[in-house]
Amino acid sequence: MEKREAIMSPWSPERSQSPGGLSSHLSKTLLLLLFSVASAQGVTPDRDTCLVFPSSNGSSVSCHPPAKLPHHFPSDTVHLVVEFFNLTQLRPDTLQGVSNLQELHLSTNQLESLSPKLLLPVPLLKVLDLTRNALTQLPPGLFRVSAALHTLVLKENRLEVLEPSWLCGLKALGHLDLSGNHLQTLPPGLLANVTALRILDLSNNQLKTLPLDLLRGPLQLERLHLEGNRLQVLEEGLLAPQPGLRYLFLSDNKLAAVAAGAFRGLQQLDMLDLSNNSLTSVPKGLWTSLGQPTRDMEDGFDISGNPWICDHNLDDLYRWLVANKDKMFSRNDTRCARPEALKGQTLLEAAESH
Ligand SMILES: *[C@@H]1O[C@H](CO)[C@@H](O)[C@H](O)[C@H]1NC(C)=O
Ligand SMILES: *[C@@H]1O[C@H](CO)[C@@H](O)[C@H](O)[C@H]1NC(C)=O
Ligand SMILES: *[C@@H]1O[C@H](CO)[C@@H](O)[C@H](O)[C@H]1NC(C)=O
Ligand SMILES: *[C@@H]1O[C@H](CO)[C@@H](O)[C@H](O)[C@H]1NC(C)=O
Ligand SMILES: *[C@@H]1O[C@H](CO)[C@@H](O)[C@H](O)[C@H]1NC(C)=O
Repeated sequence: MEKREAIMSPWSPERSQSPGGLSSHLSKTLLLLLFSVASAQGVTPDRDTCLVFPSSNGSSVSCHPPAKLPHHFPSDTVHLVVEFFNLTQLRPDTLQGVSNLQELHLSTNQLESLSPKLLLPVPLLKVLDLTRNALTQLPPGLFRVSAALHTLVLKENRLEVLEPSWLCGLKALGHLDLSGNHLQTLPPGLLANVTALRILDLSNNQLKTLPLDLLRGPLQLERLHLEGNRLQVLEEGLLAPQPGLRYLFLSDNKLAAVAAGAFRGLQQLDMLDLSNNSLTSVPKGLWTSLGQPTRDMEDGFDISGNPWICDHNLDDLYRWLVANKDKMFSRNDTRCARPEALKGQTLLEAAESH
């Protein structure tokens, strides 16, 4: 193994908070390797340069403060980490000369905008992690050559709106993480061309409504994270285009109404989380399509933390609960809020004594 450059120890307190499990795992691996190389050669790691770990597949380069960012990265770089620098901008030609780059981790900087040319030199890029920056928008055309990108993480930025044109070119995108932004609405047609999407994370935004066509683009969505928003109604047609959906997270919203047909056709659902909402009742027929013998909600469901009114309107839910109680989470926190006579009783007790 050739050692081209060495780097400082990244064991700063911030390191342990790194959101990128992958990259932090990688840095630990790199660090261990580095120390073994450094001690074998009697070299003190140089705190001012990035760590470079060559492999037969290309180099992994990892830069953390106080390293100085080089003007050029090794031309065989496939994996690049530039985290915790508080960078507000990247030069448009930052990635010039690293045409084999497959993963780019830029989390925990202060990036406010990106050049539309940034990704042009790296058409093989598969993973782009921009967690914890200060992005309020993306430039249209950013992904025009990013047909290989399968994971895009924009978690914990400052996005208030999105434009469909920002996502143009993402033919292979399987995982889109927009959690922890300030999104209040989404435009129609947002995912119209993002057909390969399997995981969509919109959790912890401020969404009050969703466009009804939101899920019409992806052909086979598996996980949908909508928890931690302000949704009030789950409408009839939203989930209909995704019969293969397996995980649906809707906790910590303000849902007071779920349309009777909202879950119709979801025969692959393994997990449903409706906890911490404002549900007092649910319409008849809502549950009939769920928990079919073929796919029996195997990872469970949670309807706790709702102010259930335990009257005859819940008969349908009661039957379903009794039949599926093995898969019920938080039974002890799933209680009647009304009528007075049943207040505090668990929904399961109410169902079983019904
Ligand atoms: C190199 O790439 C191959 C195929 O993608 C992978 O199986 C292998 O683990 C990689 N080796 C290193 C050292 O990263
Ligand atoms: C980045 O900003 C944080 C918070 O202001 C600060 O604690 C940290 O030292 C800064 N890091 C660098 C490399 O400037
Ligand atoms: C989606 O694809 C269609 C057909 O290729 C194209 O006309 C349209 O501009 C694309 N829209 C977006 C937002 O990518
Ligand atoms: C529901 O809210 C309670 C109290 O705020 C919290 O402890 C619990 O973790 C939440 N449940 C879920 C599934 O988010
Ligand atoms: C169930 O909840 C009640 C009241 O919230 C609490 O007092 C009790 O300890 C809980 N029981 C279990 C088994 O968690």
